[in-house]
Amino acid sequence: MVKVAVVGASGGIGQPLSLLLKLNPLVSDLALYDVRLAQGVAKDLSHISTNAVCRGYDKDQIGEALRGAHVVLIPAGVPRKPGMTRDDLFKINAGIVKGIVTAIGQYCPDARILIISNPVNSTVPIAVETLKAMGKFYPGNVMGVTTLDVVRAETFLADYLIAQKKNSISKQYDKTKMCKDVTVIGGHSGNTIIPVIKKKPLISTLASAYDEFVHRVQFGGDEVVKAKDGAGSATLSMALAGYRFAEQVLKSIHRENTAPIPTYVYLPGIANGVKAQAKLSTSLEYFSLPANLLDGRVTSVDDTILDSLSPQEKKLVERAVKELETNIDKGKKFVNGNS
Ligand code: NAD
Ligand code: LMR
Repeated sequence: MVKVAVVGASGGIGQPLSLLLKLNPLVSDLALYDVRLAQGVAKDLSHISTNAVCRGYDKDQIGEALRGAHVVLIPAGVPRKPGMTRDDLFKINAGIVKGIVTAIGQYCPDARILIISNPVNSTVPIAVETLKAMGKFYPGNVMGVTTLDVVRAETFLADYLIAQKKNSISKQYDKTKMCKDVTVIGGHSGNTIIPVIKKKPLISTLASAYDEFVHRVQFGGDEVVKAKDGAGSATLSMALAGYRFAEQVLKSIHRENTAPIPTYVYLPGIANGVKAQAKLSTSLEYFSLPANLLDGRVTSVDDTILDSLSPQEKKLVERAVKELETNIDKGKKFVNGNS
């Protein structure tokens, strides 16, 4: 029996994400919370003939929504408009995330917390510092969802490889089988997003398209923001990505084996976290790395990926580390003062 709560369930991400969770047989209770419309979304989903019991909770019912939750997904907060950076969302979303995480610390302190709200590079430190201040922080429970970057990297790598080989590849290609050659580490904004190609010879295959590939992965979010023209940012691809991550957490809670999956985590306190910091030559407390899950929590990260980087990828890491330091510091200060 697993209770999953979605906070921000009526939004552009929240609705399709809740739909996907309603279809998952590992979910027994689906609690939908938002400051508006959650009852309506829950009523709608409750007519779907799957077993998860779906309930909606109004603005003043966050305690009931969260009580007993094993997993909480947070896609609450404002999205970007053209011309904005994710950091521009800090002003509004920092307070929203702090408030929600405070309620989690009160009503379901053991829950696995999956943070989607931007800027993820700062909202995850906000969540961790908030829980620490409450004496309710358990390393491995708080995970920044960076899966959309992985999904984009898979898509764009396949696109570029198909374009390069267009004369030799049959029209009947299967993209899903071509896209396991890449992952993404670092953070979740622009230069902090670092695609890592697992089969290094593919970097030479991409040739001049490599830089374009990296840029598209790093700034894929901007493509969507621009195309939506003021109506928000990625919602449907994000719902899929958030679900992909949540599915691994749910499988792990059900003691199924799961492959390592990248997530932006607090490194100290997690096995190999300190080793990863040393390899990054930094005291950076947060970085997304492929993570091993046990009981739906991060138990260790794969620091060895940092040994396998190409010279180009190493340069991307160096640039990311500097920007992440600022983002992390800003999140910590928001909770602990000086901001
Ligand atoms: P949206 O505006 O469509 O939905 C946000 C929802 O949050 C709304 O329904 C709103 O009522 C709700 N909300 C606001 N304050 C709340 C609170 N205190 N408690 C509960 N609910 C609250 O926005 P969206 O497109 O769904 O995006 C949501 C967030 O996700 C944004 O910050 C966006 O930048 C971020 N995002 C992250 C990723 C990622 O890869 N991590 C990808 C896409 C979007
Ligand atoms: C994304 O990567 O699509 C999200 O972080 C939303 C955004 O603001 O770009």
